[in-house]
Amino acid sequence: MVTRTKQPTVPITEIEHSAFCRPENELKAKALGEELKVNVRWQRIPTEYLHISAEELDRRIERVRTELGSKVTILGHHYQREEVIKFADYQGDSFKLSADAASHPESDYIVFCGVHFMAETACVLCGPHQKVILPNTAAGCSMADMAPMDDVLDAWDDLTEVLGGDGAVVPVAYMNTIAGLKALCGKQGGIICTSSNAAAALEWSYQRSERVLFLPDQHLGRNTGLKLGLDLEDMVIWNPFRPLGGNTPERLRKAKLILWQGHCSVHTRFTTRQIAAARERYPDVKIIAHPECTMEVVQAADMDGSTEFIRKVINEAPAGSVWGVGTEISLVNRLAKQNPDKTVFCLDPVVCPCSTMYRIHPAYLLWVLEGLVKGVVVNQIVVDEETLRYSRIALERMLQVV
Ligand code: 13P
Ligand code: SF4
Repeated sequence: MVTRTKQPTVPITEIEHSAFCRPENELKAKALGEELKVNVRWQRIPTEYLHISAEELDRRIERVRTELGSKVTILGHHYQREEVIKFADYQGDSFKLSADAASHPESDYIVFCGVHFMAETACVLCGPHQKVILPNTAAGCSMADMAPMDDVLDAWDDLTEVLGGDGAVVPVAYMNTIAGLKALCGKQGGIICTSSNAAAALEWSYQRSERVLFLPDQHLGRNTGLKLGLDLEDMVIWNPFRPLGGNTPERLRKAKLILWQGHCSVHTRFTTRQIAAARERYPDVKIIAHPECTMEVVQAADMDGSTEFIRKVINEAPAGSVWGVGTEISLVNRLAKQNPDKTVFCLDPVVCPCSTMYRIHPAYLLWVLEGLVKGVVVNQIVVDEETLRYSRIALERMLQVV
């Protein structure tokens, strides 16, 4: 057995998560120099970008954007702040943006306003002539950081020892993982999923094996397993800090779904008490949540789905409808603004943006774009050849099942 009791650790991105929690009226971007006072790691940036006003940032980004033309495609995840996403050529959830990244061969550069695993995925799916840029390399994801390669390889060795090789367990990695883990899925007959196709990816996997290792989000895994008709008794948690993930060999042999003990710090803030309070305040409210929320929250909601799903449902809802939303605040605020004829509010009264998404300040976007105009590629994300080959296999399987 490889996994011994290890000292439990918490990713630094998780520790930094509450740094941006603030009153609603302070969410608007300030000059970067002001924002740097928030106690998190920011990537170093030339000092000339620290004190540019919001208006000047807008003007300069607009100017370089026009100069670069189709040489650059800017992608923006729904959680990006307003001051950044307005420059995106394409907005979307992880799944849509991965398809958008793959379908712009005319652009030499893909500037990904999102987090590190998204830029890595774009790098795997783009052509070899294209370069993918992440404006701030400190924009990671605390959930992805909960499944480091060494811990996953230890777990995989243990599972193979207990359950046997040859498809006794299929690895299914959520998009929110490092590329190395996606490559492991490609090598071991597994697949990638996003929140919009997790059920299809699990179905694909159960056609090949009676058992799935789902990582790193236990909540998305559990919520999806339940939707497919599995019982909680069919599932076990894999705690990477305990021998055999805290399980007995018998329990692992009986399990159909092995859930990595990871979570999203943004979505686990939502509670059933918040839902009850929303229902009390607005008897007609519809609750819509992201499936990274806990099982209790997803079950108490009226519906759940990816960020793109949430956006679509609210945009298409009838005037006068009321929506309590369990997802990141930048998206909820945007939906509220775009739908003035509806009541749209975040279930969590404390305003806490995803602190890693929030690190894409417009000054970073300007920095990388001005670099391109001068012929300097700042913050290129690269994936080594072997990782690229195998993670592409797992990603292409995903693109085929949906
Ligand atoms: P979506 O794929 O739904 O955009 O989710 C990505 C994510 O990181 C949610 O926390
Ligand atoms: Fe990661 Fe959660 Fe932020 Fe999504 S919202 S990028 S899962 S930390």
